[in-house]
Amino acid sequence: MTTTTLSTYSDYLVIRGGKPLHGKVKISGAKNASLPILFATILSTRDCVVSNVPDLLDVRNTLKLLENLGAKVFFSENRVFVDPSGIKEYKTDERIIRSMRASVLSMGPLLGRFGKAVVALPGGCSIGARPIDQHIKFFRTAGAKVEIKNGYVHLSIKKKRGVHFRFDLVTVTGTENAILYLSSVEEESLLENVALEPEVIDLLNALKKVGVEWELDGRRLKIKGRENPEGFTHSVIPDRIEAGTFMVGAVLTDGEVVLENVCREHLEAVIRKLEEVGGSVQSLGNGKLKVFRKEKLRPSVIETEVYPGFPTDMQAQFMVLLSLAEGESVIKENIFENRFQHAQELNRLGANITVRGNTAYIKGVEKLYGAEVYSTDLRASASLVLAGLVAEGTTFVRDIYHLDRGYERLEEKLRELGAEIERVTD
Ligand code: EPU
Repeated sequence: MTTTTLSTYSDYLVIRGGKPLHGKVKISGAKNASLPILFATILSTRDCVVSNVPDLLDVRNTLKLLENLGAKVFFSENRVFVDPSGIKEYKTDERIIRSMRASVLSMGPLLGRFGKAVVALPGGCSIGARPIDQHIKFFRTAGAKVEIKNGYVHLSIKKKRGVHFRFDLVTVTGTENAILYLSSVEEESLLENVALEPEVIDLLNALKKVGVEWELDGRRLKIKGRENPEGFTHSVIPDRIEAGTFMVGAVLTDGEVVLENVCREHLEAVIRKLEEVGGSVQSLGNGKLKVFRKEKLRPSVIETEVYPGFPTDMQAQFMVLLSLAEGESVIKENIFENRFQHAQELNRLGANITVRGNTAYIKGVEKLYGAEVYSTDLRASASLVLAGLVAEGTTFVRDIYHLDRGYERLEEKLRELGAEIERVTD
């Protein structure tokens, strides 16, 4: 596997605010689509090629996990080659699972391929407890024996059969885990109340290439898999959250940015809100969008919802915009119970945000002022970087390893757009 340098724990960003973003930026492939599609390679014994994969810590960890299981992996220029024929192991490395929650996605394909899987239980994380009860309930309904022992989930199944299962709530990786497992089951299955996020659909589209048949009717998914599926070649969809983050950056700094490699359809809820608060988004065709500020920033009321609603992964970035809008705004977080840790860091920069339960009340201020702030999770980090771009003076953003989990070359891309931002390694 080829490597480039990602952050160490002590890296931090120094941002001198006040420069509007101008120019073009190419949006990377979607992290949250790449991960399940890379896990799908476990199902096959033939070569798989996945392109438009962002070079991120979470992707590297997934590749490491595949290698530890026995796959041969080669990663270069955003293209991953996986030869999964050597996978003999069905137990995943605890250290990787602990560093990346998405590795629970190994359960479905390992159980599908080997009839067994031993996967370390992920811990809670800074945005909430993030239980996996729905994943486990699905595997039990599918006929698997599931035991939790010494921090590991042990799964085994004797005979793979079609399943009829309804999720109690909409879960993205829960739906993906079920899809990954059922892709190896030849009888037809029905899943109800599935997640419809574009990343889930991208996984289904990749699996179609190996002969998995599926049909969606609202939140009902019929799926019929294949024992020992073929290898596949797939190009991952653009990252709608990275795109949304740059869109907010353009409006926030009163600049003008052309985003390339974007799927507008995946961003409708974000674009509606951006236009409501004073931004403008124009389609230039060919996956390009021009984004700029049209009017003075206005306040708004935002509620996060499952797709196609407003994404929880864009809530922190909008909080920065609303902090500078004239008037009072409200953000209600309906997906995760603890996803407002950026609020107190934004307050350190001069914002006026009060959090009560799952609701943040934001009183617009005239200006933000540079200070030292700490990242608490991936999207919180992005919001602090955005705030630094408009804050007067210098902002230091610490603990940016969170950022490297999910944004490819963020500071380089921002610098190319005219931002004054640099990474310092202590
Ligand atoms: N939930 C349960 N039980 C379960 C599964 C989920 O109670 O078995 C709850 C969660 O605790 C949460 C809600 O259901 O309150 C939704 O969680 P979901 O399972 O949909 O989230 P996820 O699959 O763990 C993915 C993304 C997140 C994104 C969410 C919501 C990946 C790898 N992660 O997480 O991305 O915020 O869906 O869209 O796809 C990020 O990229 O920064 C990120 C956190």
